[in-house]
Amino acid sequence: MGPLQIKEILQTAPENQSVVVKGWVRTKRESKNAIFVALNDGSTIHNIQAVAEPGQFAAELLLTVTTGSCLKVTGELVESQGSGQAVEVKIADIEVYGTADPEQYPLQPKKHSLEFLREIAHLRPRTNTFSAILRIRHALAFAVHQYFNDKGFFYLHTPVITASDAEGAGEMFRVTTLDLNNLPRTEEGAINYKEDFFGREANLTVSGQLEGELGAMALSKIYTFGPTFRAENSNTTRHLAEFWMIEPEMAFFELEDNMDLAEDFVKSVISYALTNCKDDLNFLQNRLTEEEKNKPQNERSLPLLEKLSFVVDNPFERLTYTEAIEILLKSKPQKEGKFQFPVGWGIDLSSEHERYLVEKHFKKPVILTNYPREIKSFYMKLDEDGKTVRAMDVLFPGIGEIIGGSQREENYEKLLGRVKEIGIDPENLWWYLDTRKFGTAPHSGFGLGFERLVQFVTGMGNIRDVIPFPRYPKSAEF
Ligand code: 4AD
Ligand code: MG
Repeated sequence: MGPLQIKEILQTAPENQSVVVKGWVRTKRESKNAIFVALNDGSTIHNIQAVAEPGQFAAELLLTVTTGSCLKVTGELVESQGSGQAVEVKIADIEVYGTADPEQYPLQPKKHSLEFLREIAHLRPRTNTFSAILRIRHALAFAVHQYFNDKGFFYLHTPVITASDAEGAGEMFRVTTLDLNNLPRTEEGAINYKEDFFGREANLTVSGQLEGELGAMALSKIYTFGPTFRAENSNTTRHLAEFWMIEPEMAFFELEDNMDLAEDFVKSVISYALTNCKDDLNFLQNRLTEEEKNKPQNERSLPLLEKLSFVVDNPFERLTYTEAIEILLKSKPQKEGKFQFPVGWGIDLSSEHERYLVEKHFKKPVILTNYPREIKSFYMKLDEDGKTVRAMDVLFPGIGEIIGGSQREENYEKLLGRVKEIGIDPENLWWYLDTRKFGTAPHSGFGLGFERLVQFVTGMGNIRDVIPFPRYPKSAEF
């Protein structure tokens, strides 16, 4: 089925057998005695070297073999004379599938900035950095499915188009087929959504959780893994307008079980990457070390692989929001007035506070629980004190919040009260409320931002660089 991939060829014992290599030229180098072409097909970070003799091919043909061109090379697989690779191909024949005019092709064999590469997102998967990230992203996605499958969860496909706002945050993208230049109006002059495609207002989902809960109330353990959309105008290195979220939801799980699962789950998928993405992680680790070369020793971060192993090998710190606030109030930056935002019970922690807890105080991942009800979503289970809810956020070094979740309010009256309190019309959520009327059960779940996980594992500073085609304010080009 198809040609051998370069990854496979590089692992083949050289016995002067004939091989066919198909891939894109990374570099071409000519010396007095030979012409070297480095080919890559994305199956691995490593190139295969193909060698021709000077004069073996017409000059016109060789002129079209340039960085970015695509070739089919046939030749003998031989032991490599040079260092750096075990095998190479002695070229017998070259077919140029596609040329790449060096005057126009933007990816030259030199270091390009990540900002520049974002402008050519259609070509950046051909760089070492991005192909490594994309392979790791794939491996992590695979590990997610494998983890839940092994643990008896069912993959539930929740809708992308919804009529509800799961988080009550109101930052949604509208879905409509109405003619924006000629909107149908009601008698009162409002837009008449009855004439819209779904006969009501519809949006892109911000979370699959509410439908996920419906699944958990039948299948016990489900997870979703799909795109989610948030129209928040945040231009940060940790926010996308379109991102992928993994949301497990479990019947009969209390907050403690939820934390245990979240911790085991992230450790397990990171560990999968450590075992299965060694070459790519090594490449990214070297890239980061190179980047930090000019920083003073004490400001450099742990080498990537050490950082990942540390997270896998050590228990996360668990504490309540109230305890976290006490730590922050006694902290040095607080006493020296270094925090930009004020600290006090009831505040929504900002990223500087989260980072202090994770990076300075505990120096490891932290799970914060029992947040004030006012700053969390309506569906979270109320604690006995009536002030806090059974929420949990997992905070990671360099990332901040990577997971948000909670035990859910399973009591019908209490949930209805919360729905009304925050101003959602219960009519819109009748189906969600029904689960609390018919066979309600204690249950819990959480959401992991997939790109934030990929960011952590690859060590990339900007979330826009860990998804193939990022969506953010004023950007939807590719
Ligand atoms: O904390 P959030 O908003 O929680 C929920 O959506 C719940 N319904 C999850 C659940 O309990 N089933 O989002 C969950 C995670 C965050 O911790 C973060 O990692 C990620 O999703 N996230 C984003 N990632 C990239 N860009 C954004 N704009 C994100 N917003 C949230
Ligand atoms: Mg959150």
